[in-house]
Amino acid sequence: MEKRTYYCGKVRAEHIEQIVNLYGWVHSRRDHGGVIFIDLRDREGLVQIVFQPDKKELFNKAEKLKPEYVIGIKGNVRRRPEGTVNPKLPTGEVEVVAENLEILNTSEVPAFEISDFSDVSEEIRLKYRYLDLRRTNLKENLVLRHHIAQSIRKYLTGQGFIEIETPFLTKSTPEGARDFLVPSRLSPGSFYALPQSPQLFKQILMVSGFDKYFQIVRCFRDEDLRADRQPEFTQVDLEMSFIDENDIITLIENMLTNVLKDTMNIDIKVPFSRMSYQQSLDEYGSDRPDTRFDMKLTNVTEIVESSRFKVFSETVKSGGQVKSICLKDGAKISNTEINRLAEFAIEQGAKGLAWLKVIDTGPLPELESPIKKFFTDEELKKIVEKTKSVPNDIIFFVADKINVANNVLGTLRLHLAEKFDIIKDKKTMEFIWITDFPLFEWSETEKRWVSMHHPFTMPREQDLGLIDKFPECSVPDITGRAYDLVLNGVELGGGSIRIHKMDLQNRIFKILKIDEKETKERFGFLLSALTYGAPPHGGIALGFDRFIAILTGEDSIREVIAFPKTQKGICPLTNAPDVVSLKQLKELDIEIKLPQRDK
Ligand code: AMO
Ligand code: AMP
Repeated sequence: MEKRTYYCGKVRAEHIEQIVNLYGWVHSRRDHGGVIFIDLRDREGLVQIVFQPDKKELFNKAEKLKPEYVIGIKGNVRRRPEGTVNPKLPTGEVEVVAENLEILNTSEVPAFEISDFSDVSEEIRLKYRYLDLRRTNLKENLVLRHHIAQSIRKYLTGQGFIEIETPFLTKSTPEGARDFLVPSRLSPGSFYALPQSPQLFKQILMVSGFDKYFQIVRCFRDEDLRADRQPEFTQVDLEMSFIDENDIITLIENMLTNVLKDTMNIDIKVPFSRMSYQQSLDEYGSDRPDTRFDMKLTNVTEIVESSRFKVFSETVKSGGQVKSICLKDGAKISNTEINRLAEFAIEQGAKGLAWLKVIDTGPLPELESPIKKFFTDEELKKIVEKTKSVPNDIIFFVADKINVANNVLGTLRLHLAEKFDIIKDKKTMEFIWITDFPLFEWSETEKRWVSMHHPFTMPREQDLGLIDKFPECSVPDITGRAYDLVLNGVELGGGSIRIHKMDLQNRIFKILKIDEKETKERFGFLLSALTYGAPPHGGIALGFDRFIAILTGEDSIREVIAFPKTQKGICPLTNAPDVVSLKQLKELDIEIKLPQRDK
């Protein structure tokens, strides 16, 4: 084989009259008036190859070509004849007249056409991922992912960070998901856990004195999968010593500014805005607010608590609240549409969805709704004022426990934005820091306080006293020094300043009801490290797949991962997870109770 001269997608007018060697896949073959045209494709794109009938033997060989055959071409680059230039293709000004053709391999008929527009089920796409990855869109996603990873490495290295690998075969890390376990052959009956994050190791690296650590690292979490969740995913993970939260925040802002400029020529505005966790819940019903559009939630509890509408007043009496959202220009939507929205709200956990259409704001407001008769003019006026509604708006209400009302209206807000196309500029990037998280949240299932982030998060200085008073003090009043980064409504990352002293760490474990024995077994190594001169430290991890998915405009992170799993955690390409041989199980001293396929 002769050496390749250029990638197919890189042949240009400047190469006219050169003899070139190209290698690639037959994208398509068209036979036109005795001439055969092949679109030859490689990683970088397509170029048109022409086979002329005067070279009989070559022409006959070209007639055998089928989609996805791998071929080598020697040929002469020429300008395309007048009228046949294709301005949509970067190689569209030229074509290559074949002088030689080598068929390097044939191909079965592919399961689907290699085109960005072919509509194929995800199952089939993933089963034939090698074909799927030949599509331009996916290829470009992976190339961008590569450039961004390199740019992040370059930036952090320039800032004095050191990339250090941490183990995959390790002990459980408490990030709130289930662990994937790996049985040990050498210690029968014992298991490694795959890390949910490098959290404990990066803290230990701080104790070792590597005061600026980073890693672009795989993490493993056995949780229910969604569009933005995979069982294995990648974090840009970092940790620093002798810093506070503003150092981490500024570092990330500068890193993103540099990386986006460097790789995509995008300018972003820094510093990013910041919002407290509480404000985010109050106004957006969520701790990952999509701030690309306004449409905030309003609390109308005080206005309606003594109204004659029992649904509202009874809810408030039993400790609930009434929150609302105003859809601009929404009065035109039909009752069928409203019923559909109510069904949506009920699916999200609401008991119903009350509404008021604003016809006129008055001196006395004129409204349309089956429930308006339950309210006084004064109450209606206050509702219209508080929700800042104007004629032609519709106001939706949910009365429930505060977290249900927030959650339902927060989700409805996003649903309405999508349905009524409220986010006009799809390309904007709205970064926002969420701060002042409660240190703990109550787990109904476990009937105990659990960490909102993880148990190593440092409480605010002014709340340290409260920790000693626990359980007399109210736990939700303790705020953690944690911060999340949100981009366009997606939780992009999270981090915190950590506890670096063992006695405080032990007191936190007590609140979490992790007893001494368990503490020692699970995190003894970290606690021990904290007693050997642990410096004050903190860090953050960004979800790398989520970041790339937003930058490429993809709805699912599966579009930016070369070999992802389905929603059910299955890899249709390899058929993992799979049963294993009895011999392997025996070596591990494991017996399976479920019916096992013999291997
Ligand atoms: P956290 O658990 O918030 O923090 O994870 C950091 C970020 O990782 C991304 N992420 C995921 N992406 C895809 N699939 C998943 N299953 C998944 N789970 C999380 C999110 C998330 O914001 N050790 C701490 C960080 C620290 O405190 O420094 C941690 O792992 O974008
Ligand atoms: P009902 O009195 O059950 O017929 O409800 C009257 C209206 O209030 C309907 O539009 C219901 O969807 C709505 N509704 C019922 N329960 C709630 C609730 N908890 N919050 C908001 N609206 C509700």
